[in-house]
Amino acid sequence: MPGSTAGELPAVPDGPFSGAHPVQNAVQMLSLGMWTSRMLQTAAELGIADAMPADGGASVAELAELTGTNPDALGRLLRGLSASGIFAPAEEGRYVHTERSLVLREDHPQTLHYWARVYGSHWMWASCAGMTEAVRTGRAAFPAEFHRPVWAYLENEPAQQWVFQQGMAEFTRLHAQSLADALEVGDARTVADIGGGQGSVLRAVLHRHPHLDGVLFENKSVLDALRGGRSTVGFRLVAGDASEAVDCPADIYLLGHFVHLFEDDGAVRVLANCAAAAPPGARIIAMERVIADGPKDTFGKVVDLLMFCYSGGRERTEDEYHALFERAGLTWAGITPTASDMSLIEGIVRAEPPTVS
Ligand SMILES: C[S@@+](CC[C@H](N)C(=O)[O-])C[C@H]1O[C@@H](n2cnc3c(N)ncnc32)[C@H](O)[C@@H]1O
Repeated sequence: MPGSTAGELPAVPDGPFSGAHPVQNAVQMLSLGMWTSRMLQTAAELGIADAMPADGGASVAELAELTGTNPDALGRLLRGLSASGIFAPAEEGRYVHTERSLVLREDHPQTLHYWARVYGSHWMWASCAGMTEAVRTGRAAFPAEFHRPVWAYLENEPAQQWVFQQGMAEFTRLHAQSLADALEVGDARTVADIGGGQGSVLRAVLHRHPHLDGVLFENKSVLDALRGGRSTVGFRLVAGDASEAVDCPADIYLLGHFVHLFEDDGAVRVLANCAAAAPPGARIIAMERVIADGPKDTFGKVVDLLMFCYSGGRERTEDEYHALFERAGLTWAGITPTASDMSLIEGIVRAEPPTVS
């Protein structure tokens, strides 16, 4: 009913509001979210947090000099970000770091520098801008705008691919350890990370269980970049398209932030492709956020729209994952929570060849 409120509303964000229209004020602040996202991306791309001294901060003029930016515009960016606790104004027109601005630094051990850049990238924005039509038609926005799937686009855009992979690796590093801790490997000898990006989870698993052989299965351009990088890889690289075939036998398949990239038929296909490559009894483990009923997991519920718009995928409930695994001909083995907000969602490859429905 117009004007009515259902349930508890989050606190009204700070703003220059009279307090007379708390509901409208909350909606106004939420509507400005895209500007906050863009401010974060701009600050990351211009290296503002990296240039800001950790002790004592800097004046806007000093920071503008260091970053080759316009002092007036930079001052406004810093002031705008400080409204969200990113940088803080100090005495004499200076700005200082906050806990939140520090994670925009590339050298922060748990940096979100590239993560911020991913969500400000023009292709991500185009996906988001197509949401109205996507909701109207049920079709993903990105392919409608770019005439190809997001992965095909990134294969041909090395700079964007690099930013995306770095951003995903930053995100995954935050919970790779808790996933590795929660994973019982039993007598497995080989573990394959399907769509494993730069292999953050695989590295954590191999570090914990050094006797395992590791395989990273990824799109070719991602592996080419990894091969060209300076870090020692420490596992086998297999290039391929999991929607076509998964060409690597293993005892455990990890699919981190992967099944959620696909709509149901596509997700069943990749699970079944893993099963087709695997020996009976192999374990296929999606590492995803499981959507719960009720007010919990606001992050997952927003990411669900993101997945829909940019790759046609979705976040899922436990029942939805169970149905997917059954459709892929796997024996459902249930969900193991981890210390992070990700879960291990597991199916077992049956002795008989999988029947996909
Ligand atoms: C959201 S990222 C997740 C990366 C990593 N698993 C993680 O958790 O950080 C999805 C990855 O899947 C890869 N990918 C997408 N479609 C694929 C396909 N059909 N076959 C193989 N890899 C694919 C992308 O290149 C990307 O690195």
